[in-house]
Amino acid sequence: MITPPATALVTGASSGIGRETAVRLAKAGYTVMAVARRMARLDELAAQHPQIEPWPVDLSQPAAVAQFCEMIAARAEPVGVLVNNAGYSTRGVVEDVALEDIRRLFEVNFFALIRLTQACLPGMRRMRQGTIVNVSSIVGQFPFPGSGVYAASKYAVEGITDALRIELAPLGIRVVAIRPGAIATEFSEVATRMTGDVLARTPGDYKPFYQQARAAMDEIFAARQAAGPELIAELIIEAVTAKEPQAAYTAGPLSGEFIGRRKELDDDGFLAFMLERFKLI
Ligand SMILES: NC(=O)c1ccc[n+]([C@@H]2O[C@H](COP(=O)([O-])OP(=O)(O)OC[C@H]3O[C@@H](n4cnc5c(N)ncnc54)[C@H](OP(=O)(O)O)[C@@H]3O)[C@@H](O)[C@H]2O)c1
Repeated sequence: MITPPATALVTGASSGIGRETAVRLAKAGYTVMAVARRMARLDELAAQHPQIEPWPVDLSQPAAVAQFCEMIAARAEPVGVLVNNAGYSTRGVVEDVALEDIRRLFEVNFFALIRLTQACLPGMRRMRQGTIVNVSSIVGQFPFPGSGVYAASKYAVEGITDALRIELAPLGIRVVAIRPGAIATEFSEVATRMTGDVLARTPGDYKPFYQQARAAMDEIFAARQAAGPELIAELIIEAVTAKEPQAAYTAGPLSGEFIGRRKELDDDGFLAFMLERFKLI
């Protein structure tokens, strides 16, 4: 474990899980490089917590990410804790999501995560220590109906996280996946905005699927207590400060039922469970 004062970098620090994590790391004594697009939000955080540095970067733009990574490499103080948290979802059956929207989503959720990891690793290797926390999702283990593109990006995050954990263990660098369930942040609002009016553009064949999946999801949510981003930020702090962190942490509404079933059932059994749970056949 890398102790303060050390530098931590948190992406998606302007809101939700990333914001709560940046504040907790700053309070623990880390210098926190806070990355997001909304500069006013980052400035407000920095005004409240002098150990937080605002870094406005649009992670969907490879050139901006590359420029930011050059700055990381040139910095005297290496990044000891990297929290790859920035991400968003777009909804829709696979046929309804434009390829350019899928590419953009992967730039933020996946390629920026790899690029930032590559930029921070030389410093971590020199120190022979460091922690990389990748915020995945329960949908990194299975897709909800109509969230295939987002789930694919989190499957990709899971794959690279598993690979990094093996590659970096001999060098003393810890790599942890965080799998939140449904957490009350701006996430759902952003997903609705990024999706647009999918029902208006979908072919008639899919309309019953969307309506059924929505109704089932509403029913599932109505039966559960909401959880806030603090729950996940605490897990991230646990991953950063534990002597021996777990490979992955899962928490939040929906995680128990769906991850539980995913572990218990084989692929065919899980498909049958999902089709029945969402009343799709
Ligand atoms: N909330 C959930 O139910 C849930 C469940 C599972 C997993 N997750 C994962 O948890 C992570 C955090 O999500 P959240 O729930 O805290 O959502 P959120 O409140 O919407 O926060 C998302 C953060 O990502 C940043 N971001 C988005 N696009 C960006 C871009 N192009 N460049 C730079 N930063 C960007 C946003 O900052 P700006 O808009 O200022 O750029 C914001 O700070 C995500 O990876 C998400 O997939 C969330």
